Amino acid sequence: MAGIAELLSGSRIVIVAGPGGVGKTTVAAALGFTAADLTGKKVLVITVDPARRLADALGLIGLTSKGSQVSPSDLDKAAGHKVAGRLFVAMLDAKSSWDELINRHAPDVATRQKILSNPIYKNISSRFVQSHDYIAMETLYELYRSNQYELIIVDTPPSRHAIDFLDAPGKMADFFSSKLLRWLTLPARNRLLMGLFKPFYQVADKILGAQFLSDVAEFFLLFESMYAGFVERAQSVAGILENQSTSFVVVSSPESVPMKEAEYFISALETRHLRLGQMVVNRALPSYFRDPGAVLLANKLQDDYEIYATEFLKKGASLEFIKNSEFSQVRLGALAERVFLEVADSFLNFSSVAVEEAYEISKLPVDDDQITLVPHLNIDVSNLNSLGKVAGYLASGSESPTM
Ligand SMILES: Nc1ncnc2c1ncn2[C@@H]1O[C@H](COP(=O)(O)OP(=O)(O)OP(=O)(O)O)[C@@H](O)[C@H]1O
Ligand SMILES: [Mg+2]
Repeated sequence: MAGIAELLSGSRIVIVAGPGGVGKTTVAAALGFTAADLTGKKVLVITVDPARRLADALGLIGLTSKGSQVSPSDLDKAAGHKVAGRLFVAMLDAKSSWDELINRHAPDVATRQKILSNPIYKNISSRFVQSHDYIAMETLYELYRSNQYELIIVDTPPSRHAIDFLDAPGKMADFFSSKLLRWLTLPARNRLLMGLFKPFYQVADKILGAQFLSDVAEFFLLFESMYAGFVERAQSVAGILENQSTSFVVVSSPESVPMKEAEYFISALETRHLRLGQMVVNRALPSYFRDPGAVLLANKLQDDYEIYATEFLKKGASLEFIKNSEFSQVRLGALAERVFLEVADSFLNFSSVAVEEAYEISKLPVDDDQITLVPHLNIDVSNLNSLGKVAGYLASGSESPTM
């Protein structure tokens, strides 16, 4: 299938987004693998997976925010042939990326020091979930401008709503120009108001802990001095999303709730005139569950399981395992019937789930050639070999959505 290969060779940035827990990190890493293999490019995957699961899977000991190279010989081994490109993986380090941002925008050394040591800043930069979305975009912008990599694949943070990621730069700009911010910093900027607010501050300090409100006010006041730089920067960051060479890969599992979220995300991309490259439906049931021939056979087995069980035992009568069995023929007959019926029932159950999944997939507002299915693998995707398997599905698109 040309879809993913074309996307990887024609893009400089690929952003992998989608609902939580559907396999974004796995697909992003597998896309990196595929890209290095198919395009021969120098590829970077930026991951935000704090569990380091992927770093371990890729055999990386030190994972930095600048990028660590996956061993070319391990990559060749997992691919089963020489991989032409090179694969690097970087880990988003939100705290140090925020610090770098402050270093860049602070008007002077004193302001910079004050911000970096402000407790509110420390809290926001290390814990504020929304800030991860923004800083991931920031890191992407820096790496993109450095021209060190020919293709950057971004694994987006597990946002509650994938859409947050798209809006992070805009929200950041809005935040710094918000009325709330002005209100919070007003007393600190105005002596008269400072006097008026003093009793309030004293009471609030008692309740919230000493220094809390003055830290808040100081933080926002210091940030205000960087407002113009921040807004301009957030706008440039937002700009790379709109580049002709930036595409989105939306990942979802095939159940209705994540699919609805993915659908919503796809329409949000359209509204913002951003480019959907591919939709990857991950952990889908293999398409043979929807094969009409297989369903016909399973139905037949379900109807006539007694006949097939009898035939099976008759055919196997001479086999060692039956001859040596401690069970009587009557008991074996009953057990064979159970096994055949359960196999048929369970195949048909899987089939109906596969049909539901296909229905969910058919509702997606995208063309068939923009959909790639990756089946649920019975192995944990936790090493280069298993990632190579996912990469194989992405590259070949052999699990086509329609049969
Ligand atoms: N096709 C697959 N078959 C089997 N297991 C899979 C497949 N894809 C992903 N997994 C497993 O599913 C789990 C979740 O995957 P992953 O961490 O990539 O999801 P995610 O979307 O990045 O999650 P989060 O939103 O928390 O970042 C992992 O344990 C991974 O090994
Ligand atoms: Mg993830």
